[in-house]
Amino acid sequence: MLFKSALAGATMFASVVLGASAASALTVGFSQIGSESGWRAAETTVTKQEAEKRGVDLKFADAQQKQENQIKALRSFIAQGVDAIFLAPVVETGWDAVLEEAKEADIPVILLDRTINAPEDLYLTAVTSDQVYEGKVAGEWLVKEVGDRECNIVELQGTTGSSPAIARKKGFEEAIAGKDNFKIVRSQTGDFTRTKGKEVMESFLKAENGGKNICALYAHNDDMALGAIQAIKEAGLKPGEDILVVSIDAVPDIFQALAAGEANATVELTPNMAAPAFDALEAYLNEGKAPEKWIQTESKLYTQADDPMKVYEEKKNLGY
Ligand code: AHR
Repeated sequence: MLFKSALAGATMFASVVLGASAASALTVGFSQIGSESGWRAAETTVTKQEAEKRGVDLKFADAQQKQENQIKALRSFIAQGVDAIFLAPVVETGWDAVLEEAKEADIPVILLDRTINAPEDLYLTAVTSDQVYEGKVAGEWLVKEVGDRECNIVELQGTTGSSPAIARKKGFEEAIAGKDNFKIVRSQTGDFTRTKGKEVMESFLKAENGGKNICALYAHNDDMALGAIQAIKEAGLKPGEDILVVSIDAVPDIFQALAAGEANATVELTPNMAAPAFDALEAYLNEGKAPEKWIQTESKLYTQADDPMKVYEEKKNLGY
């Protein structure tokens, strides 16, 4: 059984699969969450390109934001006998049963960009950023920028129950902890989408004296920040000045907003989770090398000082 004893099992499995993969290309099922954000669209593009480059037959399933669709897709991949599964899990919980089924079928599962609450032996590795750290970087930027001034913060959370929503909130709260001049006055989910980010920001503005009581917006992704920027402008305020805007992802559009002075900072999340995932999978299948349980991607802070239009030009054709 593949996952029963890490390396010994891995080597045994690898030798079985090697025979098969030498004759035919690898088949990998990819259960993607959906297309809620520019970042997600880029991750899909990059994963497809990376598969093509490596001659991998990628079976792609878009779950339209629903965990039940992801579970169905995984079951279908298992029934088809794929060599491996990539899973970008929409929420943290509720995966154990289907992952047990994959394990029973000796199909390794690699998590992309989000983590889950499940026993570690149910997946091969997780390729993700440090999402608590991302929130911390965003919070620390704000603390430094604002200094001793009173600062009421509104927060747009990602999808409820998803690992980035939970962890990015935690990291940000850690950064402002013990600093009495910083207070999160409103916090609600915007589901990682531009439309909901705008909608929820409109309600925050209404509730906070037309926005006059708000010093900063912290959004768990750029798309929600971009929607909120629109709402701030429509309320007659200047985003980036009247209300500071800090978010996460570093999608091309946020660099245009940074260049226009309408956003202040973003923390980069690479959309290329696929290259490290394929590397780990190939090493596992071909050499029996079990990867670390966590393959961490980098997180980098960008501000208005980082030549945003140059970064925009570099990123604009990358599939966002
Ligand atoms: O899991 C990564 C997050 O999911 C991205 O930050 C967000 O844009 C996406 O929807």
